[in-house]
Amino acid sequence: MSMKGSKPKPQHQPRWPSPMEDSDHRSTRLHDDGSSFPSVRLRRLRRSSAIRDMLQESRVDVGTLVYPVFVQEGIAGREPIQSMPGQSRLPVSLLVDEVRHLLELGIRAIILFGIPSRKDEYASSAYAEDGIVQRAVSMLRREFSSDDLTIITDVCTCQYTSHGHCGIVDGGRVDNDSTLGVLARIAVSHANAGADIVAPSAMMDGQVRAIRDALDDEGFKDVLIMSYSAKYSSSLYSPFRSAADSAPRFGDRKSYQLHYTNAREALREIEQDVREGVDIIMVKPAIAYLDVIRLARDAFRHPLAAYSVSGEYALVKAAALQGLIDEDSVVMELLSCIRRAGADIIITYFAKRAAEIINGR
Ligand code: PBG
Ligand code: ZN
Repeated sequence: MSMKGSKPKPQHQPRWPSPMEDSDHRSTRLHDDGSSFPSVRLRRLRRSSAIRDMLQESRVDVGTLVYPVFVQEGIAGREPIQSMPGQSRLPVSLLVDEVRHLLELGIRAIILFGIPSRKDEYASSAYAEDGIVQRAVSMLRREFSSDDLTIITDVCTCQYTSHGHCGIVDGGRVDNDSTLGVLARIAVSHANAGADIVAPSAMMDGQVRAIRDALDDEGFKDVLIMSYSAKYSSSLYSPFRSAADSAPRFGDRKSYQLHYTNAREALREIEQDVREGVDIIMVKPAIAYLDVIRLARDAFRHPLAAYSVSGEYALVKAAALQGLIDEDSVVMELLSCIRRAGADIIITYFAKRAAEIINGR
């Protein structure tokens, strides 16, 4: 469409003279004390690609990205995840190669999710010494030092319980206090295998204090806790649950995860974690919860992580695979907006692609 349109202006619309064609040019200038148009022209800030780049207020740095890795017991090779095109479940034997590839891209942190072959009512395979996550962490730790690779482990029971809940079920309800000891035991077993950061995601009250006490008692004073402090009950987790076989077999997670209408309650959750000695706080999901990320950023001084979840990945991926959007530019826009909202760290299934884009590949 040509900018030099020949359409005549509708008669009834007043036509404002521009300063340049104003007969009394100085009278227009009188209103300009230097703080507004025409002295001020905000478009000057966007006039060239180099200036635009220089003036970016937030950036996505590869060093701030965390890549989620699914490790499954009893499989022989890489298994593609149907609900998350481009993601896979890996056997322990393929982990070292996977991490080498991540390090080549500049990604230096992973969060590990285990998929065990055995589930029971008490999630005992979650803290077994030869459990899937424990074996994965030991294997990686033998190969990569903490200076090279930060190993984060998800601490929860839902992949390990026969009922699929994030805690111990008693009389049809998830019991808060009897879950704390199990979470602490899982966290200690991960630390013992060599995890740098444990990430409790069960949304039980007191989970950070229980884990901190247990870690300290066992001599793991330097292991960090990154709590899923404000974790919402979200329909955006369903691709993950089919990938990790962790959907609740009855009921839902609404009695422990936050309702999506609530932001003040999220701040109270974070405040409690802070009082219990959390090292890094988290908001999850990310893109529909940018306001919560901003509120958390402004209310607390702790490092803040945002988890861009499986459903967010699936939405973008499905649209991209249909040719409805340009995947690379949407990925960089969404990650940049999560940073603009105030996140320091982003956990994302797009970490690899984002790293390639940032590295210019
Ligand atoms: C385990 C856990 C879940 C996710 C992270 N840790 C699933 C859930 O709470 O149901 C979701 C991650 C994602 O959707 O990408 N509690
Ligand atoms: Zn869980």
